[in-house]
Amino acid sequence: MKFDNKKVKLAPSILSADFACLGIQISEASKAGADYIHVDVMDGHFVPNITMGPPLVAALRACTELPLDVHLMIEHPEQYIPQFVDSGADIITVHVEACTHLHRVVQLIKEHGVKAGVSLNPSTPLVYLENILQQVNMILIMSVSPGFGGQVFIPETLNKLICLRSMLVDYNVNPEIEVDGGITINNANEIVNAGGDVLAIGSSIFKAEGGITQALQDFRTVIS
Ligand code: DX5
Ligand code: ZN
Repeated sequence: MKFDNKKVKLAPSILSADFACLGIQISEASKAGADYIHVDVMDGHFVPNITMGPPLVAALRACTELPLDVHLMIEHPEQYIPQFVDSGADIITVHVEACTHLHRVVQLIKEHGVKAGVSLNPSTPLVYLENILQQVNMILIMSVSPGFGGQVFIPETLNKLICLRSMLVDYNVNPEIEVDGGITINNANEIVNAGGDVLAIGSSIFKAEGGITQALQDFRTVIS
């Protein structure tokens, strides 16, 4: 539990799931206490990998009631927002690095009736958030360079989270802070203490030796 008594949310990232058994694995994660399902959309341009699109979001929508937390690592995200909303996304996050007109894109997401998030790559400074903070429901801090699961957590992220937390106090806003990339059972508590509200976790849940349920229980224990 955090100092402000907000329950930390766990968002299994399906990038590391077994796609042949996706429905079963999502249902296991839901029963084991996942709070969101994190969906990584990559286009092979903004990041050097291609993953999934609206049809997969629609398939997930049919097999879970958990909020679908859709992380768009794509160029021109504004072109695809209606499709992701129609497919069942609940939260749509875009990268500030991918949006020339970020304010317009955030408004578009909100006009479609879903929550809007903005994400920063590890090397993008917090100052890029200053003029959008009032508009967003979530800030996603990348703790690895986006594109792949299973990378190592970049330790400078901890200081970035601490600075973001005090920036939110200064601006008197309270979006959720999601942290994404390289989260393990060994660093999760430190990330929460630095300011993370939502942990997007891929390989340490879906490739955990003890299985999905055990991994979620272990994460819940270390962050409580
Ligand atoms: C990376 C993705 C992450 C990824 C995290 O670009 O945004 O959501 O699935 O995977 P792990 O937890 O394995 O680093
Ligand atoms: Zn992600």
